Amino acid sequence: MLEAQVYTDGKPHTFENELSPDLSEFPDDICYSKVGRILNDFSTYVKQIDWQGKTWFANPLYLRHTTEKNKHNMLGYGRENTALGHIAADNLDQVNQEVYNFIKKITDFICVDRPEAMLSSVMPGVITPLHTDLYNSYRRRQDITWIDNSNVHQLIRRYWIPLEDWKIGHFFQSNKKVITHWKAGEIYSGPSNHPHLAANAGVEPRYFLLVTGLITLDSLPIDKYTEVKL
Ligand SMILES: [Fe+2]
Repeated sequence: MLEAQVYTDGKPHTFENELSPDLSEFPDDICYSKVGRILNDFSTYVKQIDWQGKTWFANPLYLRHTTEKNKHNMLGYGRENTALGHIAADNLDQVNQEVYNFIKKITDFICVDRPEAMLSSVMPGVITPLHTDLYNSYRRRQDITWIDNSNVHQLIRRYWIPLEDWKIGHFFQSNKKVITHWKAGEIYSGPSNHPHLAANAGVEPRYFLLVTGLITLDSLPIDKYTEVKL
């Protein structure tokens, strides 16, 4: 339980905030780590993506949930400082054939069932506040009604792949572990229920790829490092 004071309309306002989960009760080892690396010249693909043109900007899902939205808004997070650019890379309308083919190789390598790939851009000044993924939009798009909040973290896994080498001011925090100095093509993943946040306090955009899907027996393991040239 965190008591915070924020200022709305110039007036101080005190409230109790219960951002979930409570990190003090969360085991330290529930976090992302580097589970693999794709060896390729990622800059070839990054420069082919129209990051501005066809990108749609959206608040992350947690900001649409009433309770979390209220909490985050009261802390000062709003559309202006949390909006991410997303390109659904499953959709050929939004990336060219060469980029699509490369992303298809990546999703095949990661080998989850019903994979969805999302290219994301995060501009300087944008923060993704602490949250835990529930994959609501993924579940809705895939029409997976047999997965509910009780088993979602056992069945769905996400892989986070930076598309450029780490730049100053960029960071990702998974539970209590801060991740920086990544290389393009590294793959990070871990227990699906990890609380996390990210920020771009630098001067250049941060580009990454998310691959989300249902875990299979052949999925890229999260306890064994694997490299591949694609
Ligand atoms: Fe997330």
